[in-house]
Amino acid sequence: MKKFERRIILKSLQVEPNWIQKLRTGLELHHILLKKTRLSNVVPSKQNSKLRCLLIKDDASDEDIAQAIKLLKAQDCPHLDIEEHELVIGYEQLKAEEALKFILPENVIPPTSFETIGHVAHFNLREEHEPYKHIIGKIVLDKNPNLLTIVNKVGTLKNEFRTFTMEVIAGKDDTNVKIKERDLKFEFDFRKVYWNTRLCGERERLLQCIQEDDVLIDAFAGIGALATMAAKERKISAVYANDLNPNGATYIQENFKRNHVDITHRVNNLDAREYLRALFAERPWGECKGTIHIIMNLPELALDFCDVYQELEIHDTVRIHCHCFAKAQPPEEEILPRLWKAIGKTIDHVSDDVENTEPTDTSMIKPQRLANNNVHTLEAKDISIVTVRDVAPNKMMYCVECTLPRSDERSNSEGKRRKVE
Ligand SMILES: C[S@@+](CC[C@H](N)C(=O)[O-])C[C@H]1O[C@@H](n2cnc3c(N)ncnc32)[C@H](O)[C@@H]1O
Repeated sequence: MKKFERRIILKSLQVEPNWIQKLRTGLELHHILLKKTRLSNVVPSKQNSKLRCLLIKDDASDEDIAQAIKLLKAQDCPHLDIEEHELVIGYEQLKAEEALKFILPENVIPPTSFETIGHVAHFNLREEHEPYKHIIGKIVLDKNPNLLTIVNKVGTLKNEFRTFTMEVIAGKDDTNVKIKERDLKFEFDFRKVYWNTRLCGERERLLQCIQEDDVLIDAFAGIGALATMAAKERKISAVYANDLNPNGATYIQENFKRNHVDITHRVNNLDAREYLRALFAERPWGECKGTIHIIMNLPELALDFCDVYQELEIHDTVRIHCHCFAKAQPPEEEILPRLWKAIGKTIDHVSDDVENTEPTDTSMIKPQRLANNNVHTLEAKDISIVTVRDVAPNKMMYCVECTLPRSDERSNSEGKRRKVE
């Protein structure tokens, strides 16, 4: 541990003991006081045993210190002389990143970002970190008391369930996590099923799209977080969740139970196409008074799955929320042709629906621009493309949303188009 130690000379302000509390918590010195874990910023004065000294951080400027003294003098604070102190800063006082700088070669930048899933921290370490991975894990574990397990992704391959091979680089070999989101409890083995804490904002946004009397169908539901939230927080009439990963389907079932989901619900373990075909053939919701929202969060492939909508008999208001990646700017140039190809619409036809659509939110790209450019058909109504998050440089995740034409509307417009042709 000696290798982490360094001696530093710090300035301090001499003050009377009865001023200490006020000055430590007040705003006057807030920006210049030393704040280090397990190290008090109050020390006895070496010059006057009746005084104490408040330690000032080493990067505070002389102007900031002079300004703070001026402010305190105006409040009649006595004895504001400067006194220097030598201090030993050791491992305990260092943040993980600072401690790692002592371990890693100068040309290796310490890894700083990781995802937290319950007691597990998940790193995607770079190749240059490989020889140091265990010490990196150990330091991160030491510095984050809530963490018990540190894992690192091995290789670059992801399988169809979007899980990946991971190795435990520090702590106990236990990836069964318990997490809370929006006060609901979820449990799962992070090794066996997809989970991304960073999608919480997107789950929140999708929840806001769902209203009373709606039905939610989550075709790629993971552990069922969104489905559980919608069932518990929105007054929907039914929730249907599906995942191809058998572990996912089991966790959805368990998470529904854990959170006492008591509305009509069903869990399936099918391929999404097959699932939607079967569900729409059965229409277990009877007549939906609101909107049926279909969530399709498999960004690499979900747009291709939209071909299934050509086959479905649709008698309700159905709105799809389909996640995808795109590199092009504007993104609709890449996303919409893929959507049209899947749902089988022709191009060069502009629907009235679109021209009348007013943008409601600046984060949404409404299709007016496309309509004016006469680029795409927009028979699907109320199309928007919402930016979800950036996943890599020049690669963004989006959610394209639209309302599908009902089967009776669909045959009318087919007829109309044929007439025009
Ligand atoms: C990005 S994750 C879903 C995340 C989830 N919506 C959430 O908020 O946590 C994609 C999911 O799709 C599932 N999946 C992959 N291919 C599938 C398919 N053909 N049909 C249904 N589910 C599939 C994977 O197992 C994975 O759980």
